[in-house]
Amino acid sequence: MIKVPDASAALAYLTAHTEDHLRQLDEFLRIESVSADPARAGEVRRAAGWLQAELSRIGFDNATVHDTSSHPIVTGDWLHAGRAAPTVLMYGHYDVQPADPLDEWVRPPFEPRYEDGRIYARGSGDDKGQLFTHLKAAEAWLATSGALPVNVKVMFEGDEEIGSAPMADFMRRHRDLLAADLMVVSDSTLFDDDETPQITYSMRGIAYFEVHVSGPSRDLHSGHYGGAVANPVNVLAEMLAGLKDDRGRVTIPGFYDRVREVTDAERAAHAGLEVDEEALREEMGVPALDGGEQGYSVFERRSVRPTLDVNGIWGGYSGAGAKTIIPARAGAKLSVRLVPDQDFREIGRLVVEHLQRIAPATVRVETELLHAGAPAVTPVGHPAVGVAAQALEAAFGKAPVLSRGGGSIPMLADAEEILGVKSVLVGFAAANGNFHSPNEWIPVANVTRGMQTIVRLWQGLAEAGAEQLRGA
Ligand code: BES
Ligand code: MN
Ligand code: MN
Repeated sequence: MIKVPDASAALAYLTAHTEDHLRQLDEFLRIESVSADPARAGEVRRAAGWLQAELSRIGFDNATVHDTSSHPIVTGDWLHAGRAAPTVLMYGHYDVQPADPLDEWVRPPFEPRYEDGRIYARGSGDDKGQLFTHLKAAEAWLATSGALPVNVKVMFEGDEEIGSAPMADFMRRHRDLLAADLMVVSDSTLFDDDETPQITYSMRGIAYFEVHVSGPSRDLHSGHYGGAVANPVNVLAEMLAGLKDDRGRVTIPGFYDRVREVTDAERAAHAGLEVDEEALREEMGVPALDGGEQGYSVFERRSVRPTLDVNGIWGGYSGAGAKTIIPARAGAKLSVRLVPDQDFREIGRLVVEHLQRIAPATVRVETELLHAGAPAVTPVGHPAVGVAAQALEAAFGKAPVLSRGGGSIPMLADAEEILGVKSVLVGFAAANGNFHSPNEWIPVANVTRGMQTIVRLWQGLAEAGAEQLRGA
């Protein structure tokens, strides 16, 4: 039997230092680490530097900021728990989504607002507020016992929100530095807003495209030329509209060929996970839910079925009043969410080929694949899932739901392939926490509960021992 230190001192430390911790998180949230914005590359780097300093201060060794082809990756480790103890890879992303539209925020996105037991700020839930809980779990253990119950390696990236381009290569080049028995990630949500914890055991993959349609060499008078020339905006709209049929199915040939059908057993499990459709309608602020792909429940359409969506579209005149032109060009950003066993490379090719095929001869169409990543699944029988469930139950006073997510964390599948490491996803943000939207928030209480969860999770993994995790 391995002797594992008791968690009570670490837990008490978290309660005693809540104020301090929230102040530090406030400082972190004020850094405008928007990875998509080239003008804020310095801010992204400042967030990486903040993490490096924090790791060193807490007592991690080798805290390092690595330059990449894009934003930096921060690593560090604490490897003094002994060979029988598991090695956990802590992952999170310190980059955030752009905050626009700014005028929809009650307070500016990088000036945290505390109200109704919530912290409103860009990155409060996705993902700075969540990765912060792992740091403080480490601080609590080190400050009270001088040791962690497990060996911990750290990897924080600054490119998650734009496709994690440098990650696969970085993991390939640092296999030994990053070798671990398990990856623990908090970059997901609770099942609801503040009560029911959740272990997310699958995430969808993604492929993201930009489409450009160009027509006349300049904007033309729409009366003088109209009738003799194809309008790039009309053409693009028609192309995009045809990508789904009236049954909600994607029309791209081969798109569904490798989609794994939902089994009866999964169907039964999913039935218990359906959220109230009226509440969901209200949450999204729409007059009615979309019928979506026929034959699948709302839960399934959001998690185990692939989707296709236009993320943005532009072209022509959108200023005040009227201007009569046939625009020279139009464009759109397009993404598909992928599920097992769709191959993101194959789907990337199918989408590009399809758009070229349906392009009329009257315009030029160029399609670029911006980024792509594979879906990820954690086997629900993995011993770490049971350990995580106990830790969540102890911290939240309620057993977690095991569920599938619809979003993507592209590096999960790469970590499994390159490092051979499985992930367990324990989320502390609210299901309705406005990820990527204005007024993003996380419950203040969940920041502390999150820290407590990670303190207990590491202890539970230490008790399980490295052997059991490696055998899984
Ligand atoms: N944390 C999210 C993923 C997520 C979303 C988990 C909702 C649980 C609920 C992550 O930061 C994210 O937004 N990923 C992007 C990846 C993309 C830019 C490659 C996504 O899903 O759009
Ligand atoms: Mn995230
Ligand atoms: Mn995100």
